[in-house]
Amino acid sequence: MRVMIHKNIQIICSKSICTLAIFILLITASSAFSQQQGVHRIQSQSLQSALFHAEDKLLQTLDEINYNSGRHPGHTNPVTGKWDPDYLGRDQWTSGFFAGSLWYMYRLTGDDKWKELAQTWTEDLEPMISATHDHDTGFRIFSSYGNGYKILNKRSYYRTLLRAANTLSKRFDPEIGAIKSWDWTGNFPVIIDNLMNLELLFWVAENSDNRRLYSIAKSHAETSLKHHMREDGSSYHIVDFDSNGNVYRKFTTQGAGPNSVWARGQAWAIYGFTMIYRFTGEHKFLDAAEAASQYFIEHLPEDFIPYYDFFEPYSSVRTKDASAAAVAASGFLELYQFTQNTLYLNSAIEILGSLSSSAYATHNSDISSILKESTLHRGFGRVGTSYADYYYLEAIARYKELTGEEFPALQVDNFLFLDQNYPNPFNNRTVIYYSLEQSGETELSVYDLTGRRIQTLVNGQMPAGTYNIPFDASGLSSGVYIYKLRSNGTLLSRKMTLIQ
Ligand code: GLY
Repeated sequence: MRVMIHKNIQIICSKSICTLAIFILLITASSAFSQQQGVHRIQSQSLQSALFHAEDKLLQTLDEINYNSGRHPGHTNPVTGKWDPDYLGRDQWTSGFFAGSLWYMYRLTGDDKWKELAQTWTEDLEPMISATHDHDTGFRIFSSYGNGYKILNKRSYYRTLLRAANTLSKRFDPEIGAIKSWDWTGNFPVIIDNLMNLELLFWVAENSDNRRLYSIAKSHAETSLKHHMREDGSSYHIVDFDSNGNVYRKFTTQGAGPNSVWARGQAWAIYGFTMIYRFTGEHKFLDAAEAASQYFIEHLPEDFIPYYDFFEPYSSVRTKDASAAAVAASGFLELYQFTQNTLYLNSAIEILGSLSSSAYATHNSDISSILKESTLHRGFGRVGTSYADYYYLEAIARYKELTGEEFPALQVDNFLFLDQNYPNPFNNRTVIYYSLEQSGETELSVYDLTGRRIQTLVNGQMPAGTYNIPFDASGLSSGVYIYKLRSNGTLLSRKMTLIQ
């Protein structure tokens, strides 16, 4: 039996020896390969092992905070890997995410232990329902009480959500048509993140038939659509208004510069506008979500995890942001439901595969979070955050509910191997390499970013072997294209860039 481990490595052995040899080879080689090859995740990652890892880290966290439900993890210290003790308070914008992760863990495992813990951490946030110091009531209360209510249907949680929505609505200015995000900078700053907090308002409006909350949320969404989003689908972080609703200036406190594209802000736009479309049914919001998504996907590096800003010029501060990837993955899964565009589904799967690999999950380490490599703001990267963990678990739960599959099947390559085309970027001609360990019905096709099939290069029964398939892009316009290889129930995809 001949087994292709990589295009340059083959082993020859009997079937049982092979299985053992492959296993050992994969364990030792996978990390080196994933570093060299970016998205080649040769080691498969099952839902079960991703959940075991997440459970481990949540239990480690509970130990670390002494099961004290007044402590709500925010981000880890980049040196010690422990949750930063100065950011455990209820008043942090992040305080709802740990409770939210406990709810998702309950949904994913059905283990009552997680439900009880989730209730305890949720109910500790009660005092925050009347906090008017910022716009983050939605993050704090919807991630905790909102998830809790969907599971327990508890009347007291419903009342809490109503009161919290009322609190948030107090920051709305009808002249400006927006909710004021912060009190500590600018005149009336509205940040792109604020879209996320509208879910609390829309949800309460829908469930209590409250037109006032609905129109506040919709008005904010429209203002943000008009002023945060650029023509090319990218977003500004902060828009500061004067009291008549005129724009003073657009800037950032977390990204690389006023005209750059802060990756987590872009992810908030993807998730936020998709969610707003869910409540309003208005296509302009769906269009905004799609434009933001296409921009995000087009600017992703090989492993589908963005740098914290798409335009950071200095490599010393160009750190990754796993949290932006997790938020976007969860958003893509909802967007796929509305559009049926597989670009979003596949991008979510690629992200989840990468996040579950040792490059981003805290396997074999003392770090307390589930994921590492998030960036809080320019110059403060390489940390774990409770929100990266929360949206990662949410995305896994959404994926499972959407597809009925255990976990992104695309990452399990079963010795189906799809290499990066060479050259890439390319001008008209390039070659796509792949190998099949088993013969089978095989299709290799090229798609544009809207999911439209451009060309089918291979289609039919193919014997096991290694293939070099030329692709001629004459007549196509410059841009990013995706090629997908499907064989024996497995689908792998990669991006390539055509420069005419
Ligand atoms: N909402 C704050 C942040 O994304 O960092």
